[in-house]
Amino acid sequence: MQIQFAKPSAVSGAPLSAIAVLVFEGPVLSSAAEALDQETGGALSRALAGRFRGAKGQSVELVAPANLHASQLLLIGAGSKDSFAATGAETAGAEAYKALKTSGATTLELRFSDLTPELLAHAAFGARLAAYRFDKYLTKEKPEKKPSIQTTVLATNDPDAAIAAFGPLSALAEGVAFTRDLVSEPANILYPVEFAQRVKALERLGLEVEILDEPAMAKLGMGSLLGVGQGSVRDSQLVVIQWKGSADPKAAPIAFVGKGVCFDTGGISIKGAEGMEDMKWDMGGAGAVAGAMYALAARKAKVNAVGILGLVENMPDGNAQRPGDIVTSMSGQTIEVINTDAEGRLVLADALWYCQERFKPKFMVDLATLTGAIIIALGHDYAGLFSNNDELSGALTKAGESEGENLWRMPLPAAYEKQLDSLGADMKNIGGRPAGSITAALFIQRFVNGLPWAHLDIASTAWKKPSTNPTIPDGASGFGVRLLNRLVADGYED
Ligand code: BES
Ligand code: MN
Ligand code: ZN
Repeated sequence: MQIQFAKPSAVSGAPLSAIAVLVFEGPVLSSAAEALDQETGGALSRALAGRFRGAKGQSVELVAPANLHASQLLLIGAGSKDSFAATGAETAGAEAYKALKTSGATTLELRFSDLTPELLAHAAFGARLAAYRFDKYLTKEKPEKKPSIQTTVLATNDPDAAIAAFGPLSALAEGVAFTRDLVSEPANILYPVEFAQRVKALERLGLEVEILDEPAMAKLGMGSLLGVGQGSVRDSQLVVIQWKGSADPKAAPIAFVGKGVCFDTGGISIKGAEGMEDMKWDMGGAGAVAGAMYALAARKAKVNAVGILGLVENMPDGNAQRPGDIVTSMSGQTIEVINTDAEGRLVLADALWYCQERFKPKFMVDLATLTGAIIIALGHDYAGLFSNNDELSGALTKAGESEGENLWRMPLPAAYEKQLDSLGADMKNIGGRPAGSITAALFIQRFVNGLPWAHLDIASTAWKKPSTNPTIPDGASGFGVRLLNRLVADGYED
């Protein structure tokens, strides 16, 4: 789907088009809505005699209104005019696209001309996010089910300013789509080597990408990560992505680390059959880190950033790791693997240690679809945030609020550490049923060597079905990309 910004006079008249306008709470017609009301001999005013009051989430569709070239006219409730801002514009753009995508119209005219060029760019961003589809394996989809909208055109008196404001948002939308594609791919297609190669191809954006294979990781002593992938015929990979956008190429970077379990069967501690297909998206943390790095490079962010992806497949096999095995991590700490299904933390243990040893970053944020327990604790509207640092924690929470990717901070109580005690090793990899997400985070914290660190448990937010947000089509959400990009934009650029 193409995005265009054009002067109002140039927007109207395309054949096969649908129009969307904003109506604020009251209802208060936007000026574009007012103009259309006149043109149509009061069709909008008549529609307002019903229950539509312009509240957020409300909309009314008028079909083939008199005197208009358009086949549909959608009135989108935008809520209070005074508090209307970026998120409202995104939602409106996304709702318009979603409501009209299979209408048959090929052009969507967003007549949001009351908005500033910045807000219009956000409306375009919302439409772009809503237009994401993972349809590469649909060979028999009926034509009437396919989206008909090919172009979304936004009316503005200052197209140049809107185009300029859309630049970084377009880069961000591409990063989100990159993540959604990775997360949506099934595990027979996207295994560690394939994932690493897709990231390697991002060197075209100016990223530097290194891939460590199993012998390279063995040499570094990554027994914890390698133990997880040991039962798979697919080789494990550690991907190191660098973006050097700061004026000072030697400035300490910030670092993002992702859990990339391309499929999690549970290993020998095998999961039940029901819902196991969901475990193709157990690489959502690594997917988000890759997409965030994409966005930073595509918009040329003035920051030095490192992304580390721990990519493995967790399979049962004659060669698989057994419950009770003791592995030695790169940090030197030993781990008794009580449950092979608690594998994400084993991957992160070595990925985090490697990251801080090599890069000495300002801070590390890891993202991982780590525990089912976080879904029980928070439901699907929040990811869990665990951190040893109030400032980093506050900055992440704020970034999440701005981008509609909510975080809720959870505690890291020292008193629960003993749940990880092991008879024969430095620690066990599970802490029992109580506070499952917390003991997982406490485990990971043992592989952070004094740096500011935060862990985002995104098992609750990486996949949305059904989605309740029009900017997120059902399936892979891309959660984390917007949040990390915002964290950088608000606090860590030159
Ligand atoms: N990948 C899962 C967590 C998960 C569950 C992600 C549901 C997304 C949706 C993780 O590796 C796992 O299996 N965790 C176990 C931990 C347990 C064995 C301590 C869990 O949550 O049950
Ligand atoms: Mn698991
Ligand atoms: Zn897992």
